Amino acid sequence: MNILVIGGGGREHTLCWKLKQSKHCKKLFAAPGNAGTSECATNLPIGVSDFKKIKEAVIYYQIDLVVVGPEEPLVLGIHDFFINDVTLSRVGVIGPQKKAATLEGSKAFAKAFMNRHNIPTADYAEFTSENITEGEAFLEKSKPPYVLKADGLAAGKGVLILDDLMQAKKELRQMLLQKKFGKASRKVVIEEFLKGIELSCFVLTDGENYLTLPMAKDYKRIGEGDTGLNTGGMGAVSPVPFLDNSFEQKICNQIIKPTIEGLKKDKIPYKGFIFIGLIKVGDDPKVIEYNVRLGDPETEVVIPRIKNDLGELFQAVQEGTLDKIQLEIESQVAATVMAVSKGYPEAYEKGKAIKGLSKGEMIFHAGTKIIDGQVQTSGGRVLAVTSMAEEHKIALLNSYTTLSKLSFEGINYRKDIGFDL
Ligand code: AMP
Ligand code: GLY
Repeated sequence: MNILVIGGGGREHTLCWKLKQSKHCKKLFAAPGNAGTSECATNLPIGVSDFKKIKEAVIYYQIDLVVVGPEEPLVLGIHDFFINDVTLSRVGVIGPQKKAATLEGSKAFAKAFMNRHNIPTADYAEFTSENITEGEAFLEKSKPPYVLKADGLAAGKGVLILDDLMQAKKELRQMLLQKKFGKASRKVVIEEFLKGIELSCFVLTDGENYLTLPMAKDYKRIGEGDTGLNTGGMGAVSPVPFLDNSFEQKICNQIIKPTIEGLKKDKIPYKGFIFIGLIKVGDDPKVIEYNVRLGDPETEVVIPRIKNDLGELFQAVQEGTLDKIQLEIESQVAATVMAVSKGYPEAYEKGKAIKGLSKGEMIFHAGTKIIDGQVQTSGGRVLAVTSMAEEHKIALLNSYTTLSKLSFEGINYRKDIGFDL
């Protein structure tokens, strides 16, 4: 197969790295890709939601399979676009159609789905500008901290957790009346606050059958000891050490199975990854959110632990034969540490030369670009350095050793990934 990976972050570099090893992969392309993907794929200068240009490339390069990394094109309906176009309908797409992508594109849709199918999640209510006074009354009756979520996609910024009632009411008004998050906050979900440890669960499904991939934990805050602003993710580990068998069984029976069954009952087709954000409340898992893609930087630890040929898994998703596949997971643990630009997750500078890059190590590029033959920074998150070992501690140590040889002006990374394990 000729395969096109859509996206240009660490997740997509990891997917390209793995697909390059597939015996089913003939030619590999990334759109737009980054300096890292250019080592294993041909980069195409196309935006992730430029369906017209993607179509032209798919026809020109005779692409058989498109793997969609980020959520935006999925929520905009890239899979439906392929199905509805006669010249593209033969091409496989890994990533769900628009209806299913609404699980990520609308928090209210996801909450209703979970309630309909008895999937454990925080209690909630939803409000628009029409019933904002009811929203305020709801906050008055709730206990702090108050969790306010913009319904739509808000580049990971649409969740507010506030201790103060006045502040929560003010933010609710700003979201609904002043469009704080644009269209995304025309509707707001107010949720019960859940306290516990978070983890990320990944499932690959063909709509009928599914495989549960290794679990992972990501470290979201910019600062050591999990402090400071939220980021896209500063590091990740897999597996998650505090999970025992009985808790994994609960995740499987109470969450994964009812999710797949719920999709079938609702007649929502789904071919692709489901990323379930979970929280362990006491001894029970609850769903924080659904994403319709892989996580980043979780991909950088989950994919390297999968021993199977990824091309073969994707082919099985296309053919609806995932039940024939036996997943083989590397028993070694994986850890990744993210190097970010100075200032991230707020304003940061780009265009800094990256030195010390070496082959042989698992250095996945997130925000990098080749300019005049030189690899430069081009994003907030720059490089994810993954290592595998018998123990988390050793894997992390190896990643930190690799990081100590890498440099760019203003490089920053958390020195304490895995501190809580
Ligand atoms: P999201 O954008 O949905 O991933 O939410 C961002 C983060 O907010 C999550 O990773 C959690 O840390 C936190 N969060 C979301 N919902 C809740 C909740 N109901 N209770 C506690 N924390 C939450
Ligand atoms: N690491 C969280 C995400 O990809 O959304």
